[in-house]
This record gives sequence, C-alpha cells and structure tokens, in this order.
Amino acid sequence: MSEKVLEPVAIDEDREEKTVRPSLLDEFIGQQQVKETLAIAIESARLRGESLDHVLFSGPPGLGKTTLAHIIAREIGSAIEATTGPIIERPGDLAAMLTPLKKKDLLFIDEIHRLTPIVEEILYPAMEDYAIDVMIGEGPSARSIRLPLEQFTLVGATTRIGLLSSPFRDRFGLILRLDLYDSVDLAKIVTRSASILKIPITPEGADEISRRSRGTPRIANRLLRRVYDYAIVRGDGSVDGIIADLALTSLGIDRLGLDELDRRILQVIVQDFQGGPVGLKTIAISVGEETRTIEDVYEPFLIRIGFLKRTPQGREATLAAISHLTGSELTGSTNSSLDDYFR
Ligand SMILES: Nc1ncnc2c1ncn2[C@@H]1O[C@H](COP(=O)(O)OP(=O)(O)OP(=O)(O)O)[C@@H](O)[C@H]1O
Ligand SMILES: [Mg+2]
Repeated sequence: MSEKVLEPVAIDEDREEKTVRPSLLDEFIGQQQVKETLAIAIESARLRGESLDHVLFSGPPGLGKTTLAHIIAREIGSAIEATTGPIIERPGDLAAMLTPLKKKDLLFIDEIHRLTPIVEEILYPAMEDYAIDVMIGEGPSARSIRLPLEQFTLVGATTRIGLLSSPFRDRFGLILRLDLYDSVDLAKIVTRSASILKIPITPEGADEISRRSRGTPRIANRLLRRVYDYAIVRGDGSVDGIIADLALTSLGIDRLGLDELDRRILQVIVQDFQGGPVGLKTIAISVGEETRTIEDVYEPFLIRIGFLKRTPQGREATLAAISHLTGSELTGSTNSSLDDYFR
C-alpha cells in the first residue's frame, strides 16, 4: 500500500476535511459524555457572562479534538487563535499570542505536551490569574513586570496526557478524554460526510466502511473517499456493501479494519514470542516502526477490539487475536489455549 490510508494523523488530502468537519455541537456525532459536559459548561459560562474554564482534550489522533476546539469557539461566538506546542519556541512567542486575546477568546494549543518547560511556566499565571510576567532589562537591573490579560480560555489538545506535568494538568477546569468511536456512530459520520460530499451510499456501504475504520472518524472519512474512487472506476459510482468490501480489501484492510502493520505487530507477539508478554521496544524494532506510533496509533485500537493486553511485563496477544490471524475462530472450550496453538 503506497498510500497511508489508515494513518489517523492528518495528511495533505485532509485539507478537504474542512467541508465535512462539523461546526456545531449538535452536528458532532458520538462522544455523548464529552458533549454533555461541554454543553453545560458553555451554557453556564454564558449565563454567568464569564469565559469558559480552560479545557484539555486528550485521546488518540483523528477523534475530533481540533474539531471540538473550533466548535467551542463557534458556540461561544468568540475568536480562536490556533497554534501547536512545538512551534512556540520562546516565552515571548506565547506572550505575543496571549496579549491580543479579548475576553472569552480561545487560545488553542495542539500537541500541548510538546511545550517547553519555560513556555509552560508562562502559562501558569496566565491560566490562573490572567496575567503574564515579562522580564524587562538585562543583567542586575532586570526586573519582571506583570501584564494583565483578558479572561481568555485555553484549550489544549494532546494524544499523550501522561506527558503533562500534574501542576499543568490541574490548571484545566475541564479535562475531557475522547475514546475510539463505535461502529454505529462511525456509520452516522460516514453517512453524514457522504451526503455533504454528494456520494451515493447505502446503509450497508456505510456499515462496511465504519467497521473497518479503527474507531476513528478521520480514517472513516478518508476510506469513504477511497471507496468512492473505487466505485467510480469499478462500479457505477455508488457505494454499497459489496463495493466497499472489495475496495477496502484491495487497500489491504481486513474485515476488522486491521492493516499490514497491525497484523505484523500481532504476528511478532504470537509467532516470535509465543503470545507475549513482549516489551514495546522489542515489538517496535521487530516491525520497524517507532514505539510512539505503536503506542499512540496502533495499540489503542488493538486493545479496544480485545486483541492486545498491556501488562506490567509487556504486551500480550489474546486468543481472539490468534484466531483472527489464523483465520479460524477458536470455538468450544476456552482450554483451547495458546498451548494448543503452538503444539
Ligand atoms: N464526532 C464527529 N462527527 C463528525 N465528524 C468528525 C467527528 N470527529 C471527528 N470528525 C472528523 O474527523 C476529522 C478529524 O478530526 P480532528 O482533526 O478534530 O481530530 P483530532 O483529534 O484533532 O486529531 P489529531 O490528534 O491528529 O490532531 C475532522 O475533520 C472531522 O471531519
Ligand atoms: Mg487535531
């Protein structure tokens, strides 16, 4: 597969994403709990006439963190300034973004776990007291003055909440975790996107795509486009269950949505290490991928579908994973265990 269709990280074609990206909370499908918490917090802030508490979104890539940040701004009717952690190199860069913000405006920092400690430090008084301390002068005559800020809202997004220090995390009033979507919600997302993009699709077509999208809306939208291409070239331009199945199979995506790398990860654990436990690093080296990618992108889905377990000793493959790899459902007695498989 030359193209990374299953990559949940945004790639070029995703500029098109903007057309299908929901802009209001009501259009945002799934994540019920997160939506409810947000709706109440937004309404309360509105009734109090104050800015929304600082919000931190965490969760795997492609689940809607950036989308929700923009939705919040839209719902509040305020401006949003967006940036990413690694771009902000010096405290002054951040100060320059903070000072123009008006009351209720949003500062969205993506990949907030990648801020440097010095920059993070500027954020503490900014978040707590709506003020920043800037140094003026140099040497012995240098002194710090406090600049007041308007009541802004910081919205942070991270795929790795574990990398945030706890004092930083504690300064967010709302910490919201996005989970992988179930296929019912994903099918609604696919159907909605198809209607916006004027792609003819049957419910079976939407189901097939949603089941094979690793619980990730960004992947679902991308697969929808690839399947549509296939339907235009090999079919009559409409997406049904059969076309979707053929298209996805031709992309190397199996019936559960696993791609080559998923299967290789499982194979390493099952075949080379008798089902595990195996350390993450060992797996990464064996499949030739970065540990971070495996941990952030591949594992959440494999764990979600019950194929992988994280134990203190390392990663273990489950019986379900083994039976999927061997293409035979292990039925009957649960004693048909790993030992049977390796006999
Ligand atoms: N709940 C949803 N309903 C409909 N579409 C969604 C939903 N969540 C995400 N999407 C679609 O998926 C795309 C990816 O979402 P988004 O860019 O917000 O993900 P992200 O969590 O910010 O990812 P990353 O961690 O890579 O920054 C969006 O463009 C949007 O079209
Ligand atoms: Mg994002």
